[in-house]
Amino acid sequence: MGFMNSNEQQLLSKIATGNGHGESSSYFDGWKAFEKDPFHPTKNPQGVIQMGLAENPLCYDLIEEWILNNPQASICTPEGVNDFRDIAIFQDYHGLPEFRNAVAKFMAKTRGNRVSFDPDKIVMSGGATGAHEMIAFCLADPGEAFLVPTPYYPGFDRDLRWRTGVQLLPVVCESSNNFKVTREALEAAYERAEEANIRVKGLLITNPSNPLGTILDRQTLIELVSFINEKSIHLICDEIYAATVFNQPGFVSISEIIEEEKEMACNLDLIHIVYSLSKDMGFPGFRVGIVYSYNDAAVQCCRKMSSFGLVSSQTQHLIASMLSDDAFVDSFIAESATRLERRYKTFTCPLAQVGIDCLKSNAGLFVWMDLRRLLKNQTFEAEMELWRVIIYQVKLNVSPGSSFHCSEPGWFRVCFANMDDSTMGVALNRIKTFVHQKKDARNPIKRKCWNSNLRLSLKRVDDIMMAQSMLSPHSPMPQSPLVRART
Ligand SMILES: Cc1ncc(COP(=O)(O)O)c(C=O)c1O
Repeated sequence: MGFMNSNEQQLLSKIATGNGHGESSSYFDGWKAFEKDPFHPTKNPQGVIQMGLAENPLCYDLIEEWILNNPQASICTPEGVNDFRDIAIFQDYHGLPEFRNAVAKFMAKTRGNRVSFDPDKIVMSGGATGAHEMIAFCLADPGEAFLVPTPYYPGFDRDLRWRTGVQLLPVVCESSNNFKVTREALEAAYERAEEANIRVKGLLITNPSNPLGTILDRQTLIELVSFINEKSIHLICDEIYAATVFNQPGFVSISEIIEEEKEMACNLDLIHIVYSLSKDMGFPGFRVGIVYSYNDAAVQCCRKMSSFGLVSSQTQHLIASMLSDDAFVDSFIAESATRLERRYKTFTCPLAQVGIDCLKSNAGLFVWMDLRRLLKNQTFEAEMELWRVIIYQVKLNVSPGSSFHCSEPGWFRVCFANMDDSTMGVALNRIKTFVHQKKDARNPIKRKCWNSNLRLSLKRVDDIMMAQSMLSPHSPMPQSPLVRART
């Protein structure tokens, strides 16, 4: 009823009243700042630009064209309404056979057809979010733990931990070797867990990585497989960015490793892949996620649990049709990579010109920006101070490395695909102005009032960009509510 009283703690569960969701992190605070003051080229040109959202709408025009050309794929068109009754009544938790077949085929395609996937091992869920929770429920009991290399996607704290009671323990990776996951770091994390009497049940990796935008190389993957086999723990591979790769080196799936490296005698019961169409197709709203497990008992258990997060049959129907169109899928994946690469360069080249480096990457919808030089000192307090300036004065919602459990201060994740070209231009100009201001502030001769100066230059830049955007064929992306803030 919305009444607050002193008994509230007793009225609701521990989960309801606890802080396990992680919404109080700076990752979500950035979202709130954006929502209070969202950028719009004409209505709010001084507003916050959303660069904390790993969305991929760069090829929506291709999807729209396909939908117009395939009206029978929807049950809400004259061409497709004949299927309405069958689809509306369908509720089998195995999913439509044609949907699972199409997803299996798509997964193979996005891995260069070097491996195949068995549709019977696919269990659907509400996005990768639901898939992670489902597999965590299947593999671990409350109090048991998964190791996770840092930095890692903040949503994992919610998805694998919050309702399951499972713990996530960091495998500390460092910038000195580009955040590579090493055997030493894995062993150290495992030992720390043993010392704390925590039972490790698995290792969770994200490949390609969010937030690094890098790919795990073949040798590292082999190393990980031998580590989990030696310890007899599970390996969960989040491959949600499998086709969101726009340059060399190419993506290597864990499925290729276990198929090719047969002499390793990997226990296949330990291997599980989480996937979704939220990134590679750009459909986070459709909530199409899956667990692909090589462990039949896990598949059976997940299938029972999937009743809590099935994909709507209407969506299954549409996706089955779209992903079965080979010619479309091939050209979509190729064009998506081309547009992502262009956007990546459009963003990182001007940054490099003003002396801002990013970790060299070739995948994902973001860069891992190195602002260590701009920190007052190398602490997480200084990182938060800089982040507050970026969000409240420069007005860009970027995400601080600490929210990704990064072990070193000064790194920020910046998304580059979720906006149109002219908004990207405004963002870049704000960053350039900010960096120049910082340089001026360090030089006492040129030193001026940082804030008023920044405001003046921002206004000038925004005026220019506003004039440009009025002429631009691109419109700003619609604002996303916080409930979508899972990326
Ligand atoms: C690595 C990773 N896993 C899972 C998710 C959640 O994806 P979904 O929208 O399919 O739930 C995200 C979203 O950003 C992600 O980056």
